[in-house]
Amino acid sequence: MKGIILAGGNGTRLLPLTMVTNKHLLPVYNKPMIYYPLETLAAAGIKDVLIVTGGNNPGDFLRLLKNGKSFALREIRFAYQEGSGGIAQALGLAEDFAEHDKIVVLLGDNIFDENMTEHVENFKHQEKGAKLFFKEVTDAHRFGIGEFNQGKLVGIEEKPSQPKSPMACSGLYMYDSQVFDIIKTLKPSKRGELEITDVNNFYIKQGTATYENLKSFWSDAGTFKTLFESAEFMKNKEK
Ligand code: DAU
Repeated sequence: MKGIILAGGNGTRLLPLTMVTNKHLLPVYNKPMIYYPLETLAAAGIKDVLIVTGGNNPGDFLRLLKNGKSFALREIRFAYQEGSGGIAQALGLAEDFAEHDKIVVLLGDNIFDENMTEHVENFKHQEKGAKLFFKEVTDAHRFGIGEFNQGKLVGIEEKPSQPKSPMACSGLYMYDSQVFDIIKTLKPSKRGELEITDVNNFYIKQGTATYENLKSFWSDAGTFKTLFESAEFMKNKEK
């Protein structure tokens, strides 16, 4: 399976930190943010990674990561997203790279402290569809939130004002090759983006989405508070 890290977008929630650099190059304790998803993929046995980025600093990713050998990867490739038309639009740029294989997708600002090898192996054996990963949160309005009926995932609502559960859909997604056809059918949401939640709801309706609950630390480091908390977690882990 191949890995894809989505590291485009404008990082507006972190202005002025993102005025002259890309969010995913900011430090999270002692490493640039992009190291964390890369290390998560490498630890799960993924060898080929595509990073989709955008904005004014794409060359800085190449200067930082070079050919990926220091992460024990076979190769890192890069793709460039014009503008910031949404997570699903960024993922659409990975179609040729994926070569009809199953893929593991990570949002570049998501920091996991969990080994994903078993999940990757399980998904290799899943006949088709998607695998999603949830974690209980206290600030549900920030996320895609799962709706469950007797333990069955029946839908995901993006940033709901009245969340139907405390379970956030994290930025780790596993998809079969249908995903690129699904993305082609999407229409921009009210915020003008192609939403990954619409992709996930397609799979849920199709009855081919499985899910797991994450056991360890997970953070979307895309706000000042969570960027700080993520750095604090990594510092404390070192003790
Ligand atoms: O962190 C998990 C959440 O991520 C999910 O629960 C939500 O369902 C999902 O929509 C997403 O929500 P966010 O509002 O946090 O997404 P954000 O706009 O911060 O984008 C997350 C990452 O995706 C970001 O680090 C870079 C990448 N991205 C985003 C956009 C909008 C792109 O590569 N291109 C884009 O156009």
